[in-house]
Amino acid sequence: MELISGNEIAATIIAELKSEVATFKGRAPCLALVRVGDDPASVSYVKKKEKTAAEIGVTSRIILPPETITQTELEALIDDLNNDAGVDGILVQSPLPGDLNELAVFRRVSPEKDVDGFHTLNLGKIAQEDDTGFASCTPAGIMEMLARSDVDLRGKHVVVVGRSLIVGKPIALLALQKKAGANGTVTICHSATNDLPAITRQADVLIAAIGRPHFVTKDMVKPGAVVIDVGINRIPDETRKSGYRLVGDVDFDAVAPLTSKITPVPGGVGPMTVAMLMKNTTKAYCLSQ
Ligand code: GUN
Repeated sequence: MELISGNEIAATIIAELKSEVATFKGRAPCLALVRVGDDPASVSYVKKKEKTAAEIGVTSRIILPPETITQTELEALIDDLNNDAGVDGILVQSPLPGDLNELAVFRRVSPEKDVDGFHTLNLGKIAQEDDTGFASCTPAGIMEMLARSDVDLRGKHVVVVGRSLIVGKPIALLALQKKAGANGTVTICHSATNDLPAITRQADVLIAAIGRPHFVTKDMVKPGAVVIDVGINRIPDETRKSGYRLVGDVDFDAVAPLTSKITPVPGGVGPMTVAMLMKNTTKAYCLSQ
């Protein structure tokens, strides 16, 4: 079994981006990070994005509207960022609290600044295999991580567990694309799938993105499979100062010995997402120059 280190691969990408940004003339790329409310996981993710941006030489603008912001006010804030020539990328941290309509907010972001890749147009471009748009960061990070770990999906059975807009659907589309590294035979499983273990056991590459701690158990994995664990779940742990620890969607200790390659949590897909966000922001900047 070989660990696929997202930490190491992300660090390589960040170093590559840092060198690229250093060659830019004029102003630095700028990423607007919008976080509504104080969800603890979102606070930590936005902090990490801000820190990584600074490391690369990307300016970040942190906008923290209160939980009481209305849909209209939030959309007006997005419009202002869309119209601001000094902003290249806009990210609205998900999930939004309360009754805010997340999909409407994602669609409000100008497609040219949608570095999260959640806009209808960018998701559609993945289906059309048009690389001029932005692929969402976690799926793009998974593809990059597979490529840099010499895992070619061609002809392989790729089983995705989870059908979210952020991960499940776009990773299925990327794995399916007719291009180098992809060409997978893709199955998407979800909460209504009958006999899910019978399907996951067929996976040459299993991508777990359901957001349930330790959902994928030993009996659900074919020996020799490559396992990508997208889950970042907080579970109570009194031995930790924080009172919690992070675990994936895969029961790592039981599953890892069976696999040929597996990603850990933390230090797997998570850091790749942030690296790809920076890659998309740099791309948005270059396209706007
Ligand atoms: N919440 C979990 N993952 C993501 C992501 O990639 N982007 C945003 N905006 N919110 C998230």
